[in-house]
Amino acid sequence: MTNRHWRKSQSEDFFIKDSRRKGYRSRSVYKLSEIDDRFNIFKNVKSVIDIGSCPGGWSDFARRRIKKGKVIAIDINEMEPIGGVTFIHGSIEDQTLQDNVFGQNNKEKFDLIISDMSPNKSGNKVSDQYKFYNIADGILEFSQNVLISKGVLVMKVFIGHGFEEFKSDLKENFERVSYFKPKSSRRESRETYVIAKNIRYN
Ligand SMILES: C[S@@+](CC[C@H](N)C(=O)[O-])C[C@H]1O[C@@H](n2cnc3c(N)ncnc32)[C@H](O)[C@@H]1O
Repeated sequence: MTNRHWRKSQSEDFFIKDSRRKGYRSRSVYKLSEIDDRFNIFKNVKSVIDIGSCPGGWSDFARRRIKKGKVIAIDINEMEPIGGVTFIHGSIEDQTLQDNVFGQNNKEKFDLIISDMSPNKSGNKVSDQYKFYNIADGILEFSQNVLISKGVLVMKVFIGHGFEEFKSDLKENFERVSYFKPKSSRRESRETYVIAKNIRYN
């Protein structure tokens, strides 16, 4: 084993052991925790939607951070229940689901949307990126309808095909947009996280 690989597996080992010790549902929690440390995303937050929530690490973290308040989690896979989290089984792309849960024209408003959503990979990088940004566009539109005007959208995105277009859409739709790659995100992964604040009303 080379030094570099040894160091990498040592740090992987740390995240896995530490998450078990702390009872986290996923390794992804470290990423949300780093984002929170840096951008204080839960400040004054009373309602959260977690898109692509399974197995529940981020939802559980959100529930602990806001204590009282509302956390809604959505995923196409089933999620083991978490006290204080309302789980909705379905796709964020489903308009009927959106109407049923958030009211026609998305009447109910939320302070924060977090999304660690990633669709299953097909092996074809271009079509995977295309599929991802198709759903991501839907999440952006949904966030415009559902967030309060000073609301925050935290979302995983993948650098590559479709990223630049999505970046300019974000800039058009939010006043402040930051990008952040947490230390706990694998260096070789093309994922990075968007923190978008304050909706722009054109
Ligand atoms: C990386 S996992 C999320 C991990 C989660 N943040 C945690 O900490 O436990 C990505 C999730 O996105 C979900 N997903 C993919 N496409 C989706 C869609 N269209 N609607 C809702 N969830 C979706 C997947 O089923 C998967 O559970």
